[in-house]
Amino acid sequence: MLKQCSLCGYTYVEGYLDTEIAHDKRHNKFAQSIAPAPCLMLEPYLEQYPEGAWIDRGGPSWLREEIYWRAKLFQREFGYDTPQWEIDGRSDPSAIGFAFYDSDYRIIGASCFRPDHTSDERMRLDWVWLCPSARRQGVLMSHWIKFRDRCGIFLIEGPVSTAMLKFLQRHFPDHRVSKPYISYPTRPMERFSDIKQ
Ligand SMILES: CC(C)(COP(=O)(O)OP(=O)(O)OC[C@H]1O[C@@H](n2cnc3c(N)ncnc32)[C@H](O)[C@@H]1OP(=O)(O)O)[C@@H](O)C(=O)NCCC(=O)NCCS
Ligand SMILES: [Zn+2]
Repeated sequence: MLKQCSLCGYTYVEGYLDTEIAHDKRHNKFAQSIAPAPCLMLEPYLEQYPEGAWIDRGGPSWLREEIYWRAKLFQREFGYDTPQWEIDGRSDPSAIGFAFYDSDYRIIGASCFRPDHTSDERMRLDWVWLCPSARRQGVLMSHWIKFRDRCGIFLIEGPVSTAMLKFLQRHFPDHRVSKPYISYPTRPMERFSDIKQ
């Protein structure tokens, strides 16, 4: 029977091992982004870069890949066509990623900034995505000033989610949203909150 996974969107044929294996491979990446295990590579990375898990095109591919899967989750949650991050960064060399992590070095989310060529070259926050269990815990709030220190009063790429809109309206109304429209999740990731590590 043909099946489509509600979490990762992969279509596979039940009973056909090759398609089931391909699905498992992709599905695990989605599940690990929702319920992350501690990341062994992160602690040594942060010893080298104590300012936080920022990453540009020259950064290590394991961290670029971690950011990529959060971009995929963001894409999937809002029904967008493409992930806004490349592992190799070949056609998007100026994108700068950031990984959010908890006290056990679990990567609980990610975001991406880019220079905005339509404005005065200010930075723009393109997307930010946290796993459902990390939401409404003050994670974004606790990073915002750090982001401003690095990127100034950066623009926010629209459309924005209602959560982001509320966040900005209540706390940081001085940031301009480039396309002031709202996007609604087509698959709210809270639905998958029962996934365990
Ligand atoms: C948007 C997002 C990054 C916010 O990060 P967060 O760490 O959960 O936000 P915080 O906990 O720091 O929120 C701080 C304050 O912002 C406001 N806020 C944040 N999310 C809100 C929500 N869903 N509804 C209403 N207010 C919200 C509240 O005032 C909140 O304070 P409170 O929890 O004490 O009421 C996170 O919800 C997320 O990843 N959502 C899915 C992806 C997404 O929407 N990305 C933005 C795309 S434009
Ligand atoms: Zn799946």
